Amino acid sequence: KMRYSLPLGSRPFGPLCIMHQMEVVELEPRPTNNDNRLSDASEFTVAVFEDELNRILEKLVIVVPCKDEDVEVIRGVVKGIPSLCAVILVSNCSHRHGDNGWEAQARMLAEFCTWGREGCFVHQKYPRAATAFREAGVPEVIDPATGTLRNGKGEGMYLGIAMAQSYFSQRRYIGFIDADNRVPGSVTEYCKAYAGGFALVQRSFAKNGTEPEDVMVRICWASKPKHNSETGRIEFVKEGRSSRIVNAFLNKLFAVQGKEKDFITTGNAGEHAMTMDMALRMRMANGYAIEPYQYIEPLLRHQSSMVSSGINGQTDKPYPLKRTRILQIKTTNPHLHRATGNDHITKMWAAGLGVLYHHLLPSRACEISGLDTNITELCREMRQFAVKNSAIRDTEELPRPTIYPSLDHADLNSFRDFLGEPCPGHDGSEALGFYGLVGQA
Ligand code: GDD
Ligand code: MG
Repeated sequence: KMRYSLPLGSRPFGPLCIMHQMEVVELEPRPTNNDNRLSDASEFTVAVFEDELNRILEKLVIVVPCKDEDVEVIRGVVKGIPSLCAVILVSNCSHRHGDNGWEAQARMLAEFCTWGREGCFVHQKYPRAATAFREAGVPEVIDPATGTLRNGKGEGMYLGIAMAQSYFSQRRYIGFIDADNRVPGSVTEYCKAYAGGFALVQRSFAKNGTEPEDVMVRICWASKPKHNSETGRIEFVKEGRSSRIVNAFLNKLFAVQGKEKDFITTGNAGEHAMTMDMALRMRMANGYAIEPYQYIEPLLRHQSSMVSSGINGQTDKPYPLKRTRILQIKTTNPHLHRATGNDHITKMWAAGLGVLYHHLLPSRACEISGLDTNITELCREMRQFAVKNSAIRDTEELPRPTIYPSLDHADLNSFRDFLGEPCPGHDGSEALGFYGLVGQA
């Protein structure tokens, strides 16, 4: 159960429709009238109920990218994930043995799954995972120096999507939750917010008889608590240090009639979920550029599909792509995670601006999508900002992201054939394991 404030409309940009932020207003509402709506003097809200949420949760797989977090911290995250969801732990942990090595991470997940949850552990550097991608025709994700998958959160998510489609194919939604979250209760809320967002869209499809679209739910946290060492106090900061910057530029990009404030609140949302079809259709950016890229990828895909249909002389054919709808949901729990240094933050926003800079600059996508913004000017501003804030020198360009092909262009049958049937459990000698009910469905 969950109650939300109704979004005050949306903004359409060609194939992309971005909804204004909604907010969780009640975590455990009681049933009201049939329409699930209540209006008071000023506000409309809408509630989603247990059965609707469960119908989505049982079709949802949650990918948890992790590195060297303590096993107890990762365990807290898995604790918070509703047990109807399958869990894929994609680890890029630097060491195998010891209390917090990747074998211990895998064991922890295996323990959880003895209670009936479906789970999978895979190490990002598992050599067979790289070969499986080569078999699938995606050598780009392999680092030629090591022959294993490249490092990066985006790359870990990419592996997670391929695993989800290969081994959890009956699950039609995929969500991501960082492993360094210290509040298991907020993890539960994120999963419920994902499910609630999808359920609301489904409801409106059913009501209006419209075609289902690609749908994405992005989380905006109520706050990010930070310890201020000078005052000794915990401050409940509203916007993260990187989000603040990336959101500001996305807001300029998606401004309508000069109104640019507070529309995009989820540019960097590490916590987000989408329909599996959308995850397969989208190209992905490397590392931390992955999240901001998701905002422009549908526009770019639209443009390239128009170009390619033009080449085939079929420009007058109806536009074949699905529309993409992005929901932004603000949750009630704080987002408390590992504190990181300024260098990390600078790299993160520079990567976010870089992905916008390099992909918007030469593209007609913005024009086609009816964006009002002067893109050349916006790109110049981003670059200037990065120079002024010492992310790059004035002779340098913003970082250029690597873009990986959409997985619906990959041969995922070969990927799965190569990795084999999900054998239950694993002996700890291999960096791949399946637990619980996988393959028994
Ligand atoms: N598998 C894998 N491989 N996981 C990774 C890798 C990798 O190479 N790099 C990072 N991760 C995992 C971390 O272990 C963590 O659980 C999660 O991805 C997020 O990484 P952090 O290093 O904690 O990132 P952050 O907290 O600074 O940034 C997060 O929030 C941002 C928004 O504020 C990330 O989710 C960003 O993507 C997001 O933009
Ligand atoms: Mg973090």
